[in-house]
Order: sequence, then structure tokens, then C-alpha cells
Amino acid sequence: MVERTQGLQVAHPLDPLSKSELEFFVASLRSSGHLDHQHLIAMSQLEEPSKSALFNFESGKAIDRAARVTLLDRSTGKVSESVITTLGELRSHKIIEGAKAPILSVESHAAIAAAKADPRVIEALRQRGITDLETVRMETWPIGAQIPKYLDDGRRIIWTPMWHCPTPNANFYAHPISGLHAIVDIDSGEVVAVENDQLIEIPQTPGPYRQSQTGASVELKSLMIHQPDGASFTVDGFKIDWERWSFRIGFCQREGLVIHDVWFADGGKKRKIAHRMSIAELVIPYGDPSQGAYRKNAFDTGEFGLGNYTNSLTLGCDCLGEITYLDVAVAGPDGTVREIKNAICMHEEDFGILWKHVDLDGNVEVRRGRRFVASSIVTVNNYEYGYFWYFYQDGSIEFEAKLTGIVLTLADKPGVEHPSATELEPGLWAPYHQHILCARLDLDIDGDATGAKNSVVEIDSFAHEMGPKNVYGGAYETSEKVLQREGEARRIVDPLKSRFWKVINPERKNHMGHSVGYKLVPGHTTYPLALPESTIGKRAGFMYHHLWVTKNETNERYPAGDYPYQHAGGAGLPEWTAANREIENTDVVLWHVFGTNHIPRTEDWPVMPVERTGFHLKPSGFFARSPAIDVAPAPAQKSCH
Ligand code: CO
Repeated sequence: MVERTQGLQVAHPLDPLSKSELEFFVASLRSSGHLDHQHLIAMSQLEEPSKSALFNFESGKAIDRAARVTLLDRSTGKVSESVITTLGELRSHKIIEGAKAPILSVESHAAIAAAKADPRVIEALRQRGITDLETVRMETWPIGAQIPKYLDDGRRIIWTPMWHCPTPNANFYAHPISGLHAIVDIDSGEVVAVENDQLIEIPQTPGPYRQSQTGASVELKSLMIHQPDGASFTVDGFKIDWERWSFRIGFCQREGLVIHDVWFADGGKKRKIAHRMSIAELVIPYGDPSQGAYRKNAFDTGEFGLGNYTNSLTLGCDCLGEITYLDVAVAGPDGTVREIKNAICMHEEDFGILWKHVDLDGNVEVRRGRRFVASSIVTVNNYEYGYFWYFYQDGSIEFEAKLTGIVLTLADKPGVEHPSATELEPGLWAPYHQHILCARLDLDIDGDATGAKNSVVEIDSFAHEMGPKNVYGGAYETSEKVLQREGEARRIVDPLKSRFWKVINPERKNHMGHSVGYKLVPGHTTYPLALPESTIGKRAGFMYHHLWVTKNETNERYPAGDYPYQHAGGAGLPEWTAANREIENTDVVLWHVFGTNHIPRTEDWPVMPVERTGFHLKPSGFFARSPAIDVAPAPAQKSCH
């Protein structure tokens, strides 16, 4: 195993913001007077250049790099956005009326300290036999549901589920302190309410998972991944070339890992597939109405800033083989810039056979497949999310989210009727919930650096009734429908019709005269159980369709809107698509909603084995024949012939 770490290099307009750039932006905002001791930095994001600016850059024209810095003024609670360039030019500065900032780490710490110092909380804990506050673990969660009437005056609030941690290394999620929550006004730091409505015994069965506690001893013989000639990809800053693919790795403090500018060399000619792909939102609606669990509807992307929680990965543990890491940087609320080493892992994986055929004469043609992986993992409170982008030798791309970590827990009496949760250990319950992700896919099928005019087609398989069109009863056909406007492009999956969607370039035809395209193949999907009229249903309205198509607008980035925190709902995709813009033969964005419905199993405890959900993008009439045919047999495969 060889480790190579790329330093922070800034060479391209799509590179993530570097540490030195972030420090410069913070200093510039301080000297401009927009950032003072009253402010916290809520988010710093690369202000990405337009496609035409990028095109000009590729032809030699310089681009000023810029950041969009979101500030929270603690004295007024107002949020502002400043766009500032690396030359120190303040391009714009505006107050975003009505916006509420995401939860910031310093605010979480302050809220927990306030809750722990509150006499009502101390007394309630004492009633439960806990006198050592050091043994209490609190988390800060957005109020993701109805805000209590007496608090609903526009202030920004969080609430604090609590657990008991009887020994320093115990898995505290095994010991929920139920029925006790503090509600904290984030901006004033004041505990505005203490809910202490149920005195339920704290479950005592421990949930150890550390090797030092479990003595985990099931072992296999070693498996080494060796690439004696080195990896088959090259890394130039954040640009990756592998096999016939080329693309760029990006990173955003809000979304985490981003993929930019994806091309595939077809017979030596580079053809564009995507401009930008990311997971633009991740929301986890909880389906248990008890003990505050109904409030657990966190937008991990929009309310926390997922990228903040990116892990530093470890060679041989998170990633195995010939690995290259990329480091990223994020600016904290106080302006301190933090580097996250080994934030993004890149490597190749053997992926079984790519294709095979044995001919009548005994000739065997078989190719081993390999895939390129770019991945990162975040830890948001109890859960870990891995984002994995795979590139394959048949021209396809896959996104897979890997869900692991510890299920959220609450306490209830052992064996009682509790319809929306699974009892894991006596009195320890894990509420039902869904993990709903939304990919934002700015594809440019067979376009150029300036973009592409694409259309989206829905394809269903169907059979005619028995009769002249279906004489034997076994015939079936496909129907194709071009989605012409945003309103009709709100779609749901239909496995009974083997439904898929294809993004085509109507101006580019393949050798058979058909428009070239890539199809979006849904994988593991779920449909929201929360009613559309519920608070979370309104705030995450995007989750009621698995596909949305919008006309590409650079300021339409997040499916629940830019500021989901305590938003009344309706923002993002439902709002934009109400305009019902034309989406045929233009630059479009696909939004794909997918995820899992998590009915916890006892086997998800104490740490959930990885659950996967995702989708594929596959060429469909894009190439004249399988690009995998061009893959040579591996040297070791000569003996197969
Ligand atoms: Co889950």
C-alpha cells in the first residue's frame, strides 16, 4: 500500500477553496467591516464560474476565483451573503431576509453548556438518579417539526435529546434519558423551555462495540491489494484521468464531495457527460410521534453543513489498496480555517468480470472489470454517511451512499405497545425513520464546455391487451414520453413498468439515427411516509417525487431551498417548478430522490452494518457499441484463451 497525499493546490476555477484562500476571504471580510465580533461564519462556498466563463478559461482567459460567504449577525439574527474574490473585491453583499442560519458548532457547544447549567435540567436529571453532569451526553437538533406555539415567534431554536454515559467509553446511545429535553434559543443562548414529561427508566443493557470492549476476534487471512506498476489513474491537482474518463473532484462545505466536468474518450474523442453532480440534500424524517422523536427531521446537508463533518480517512481501514487522498479545508464559525487531511479517497477496485463469452469453438473471451472510486465519509451525530462515486469501463457511473453508525434511540417501558419503533434491548427503542437523499445532476450529454441542450424522456415498458397487437400475449413495447415542462416532469418510480429516464441530446444522433443519451436507473428508493401536510412534508416537499427536472439556473442549488432551518416550507423544487418552465431541448438539471426506509433491526445494533442506496447513470444509445469491448485482457488472463 502506498499513500500519496496531494497538497492544497489552487489551479483551476472548480478546485475546492484552499486553506490560504479561506483565510484570505475571512481577513478581507474583516477589513471590509462585514465581519466583526457580532458575526459567525455560517458557510463558505466556492462561487462556481458559469459554464461560459469556464469555457473561456479553457481557452486561456483568466477567471477570478471567488467565494460565497454566509454570515450570521448574532446581534440581529440576520443572515447575509457576500461574494468576494481572491483579489479582495467584494462583488456583492446582501441580507437574506427571513433566512435562518444552519446550526454552527460553537452554538451547539454553547446550547449544551446552557442546558447543563439549567437548574430544571439538573433537577430532572437528579430525579433520574444522575448527579454527575459529565456523564450526560446531549446532542443539538433543529426543531424539525411543529414549533411549540409559545416559541413560534421567529426565533432560532434547537432542542437537546440526552443520553447517559455511565463510563467514559460506553456507547451512550444504549442509555437514552427519555422525556427530558431542553429547548434553547440559539441566538440568545437562553434555555427557553425544559420538557420533563415522562420518567422512564434508563435502559441499562450496554451496547459495546469497541474492540477493546467486545474482544471481537473473528479473523480472516490477510488480503493485500498490490498494484506493483502503480495505480492507473493520474491526479493533477483535483483533476483525475482514469481509463477513458476524465473529471474533477470538488468539495463543498454544505454538500461535501462534488464531481465536476465529466468526460469520456470515445475512440479518442472526448465526449461530455456531466458538468456537476452532487448530493444536494439529505433529510431524515422520523416516524415516531413519541417523546420528541417526531422533531427529529434533520436536513443533514442544509441544516448542518454536511461537509463540516468530513472524516480524515485512514489507509488500510477506510480505504484499501493504492490510494491517493485529497485534503480539503473549511472555515469554522469563528473564522478559523481547519484542514481536513485525507478527506477524499481515490482508488481502483477489481469489480469482477466486465464481460464474457465462450464461443462454440471453445474460444473464451473474458475481461476483468475495474472501477474507479472517489469517496468521503461524514459523521453527523449518531450516523455515518459514505458518499461513493464509481466510474466503470462500460461508460457507466454509479453513486452509492453507504449508511452506517448508530441508530437513534429512546427509552420506553420494556414490551409496551410502541408502534413506530423497534425494541433493541429491554426498554431501548429505535424509532422508524427514512433517509432521503436528493442528487442534483447537471448533465451535459454530448455537450461542450459551454453546456448542452438536452431533453428528458420517460420510458415505460407495457403490453397491449391480447389481440392483433399482442397475438401471443407475450409481446411488450416501450413508450417514450418527452417531458416538456417542469410540472409534468415531477415523476415517481414505477417498477411495474420498469420505468427509467433518459437524458438525450436531440441534436446529436448515433449511428442508427437516434438521439444519444444516458439513462438514469433508479436503485434503492423509498417514498416518504410523512404526510405532505405535515411540517416536514412541507419543508421537504422535494421528497414526494423521485425525479424532478428543472431548467438550469445556477442559483437553484438545493431542493429544499437555500435556508431550510425552521423554514415554513414550499421552498426549493416545489417553488421553482411552479413556474412550469419549458425543459425540452435546453440546459436542464435532473434531481433524483432516493433513499431507504429504515425499520431498525436488532442486527442494526450496536453499530449498523453498512446499508446502501443509490443509482446508476448508464449510456443508452450514446456509444455505437459497448465501450467495454475495447478493454484488453489483463496480462494474467492470457491463460484464459
Ligand atoms: Co437509519
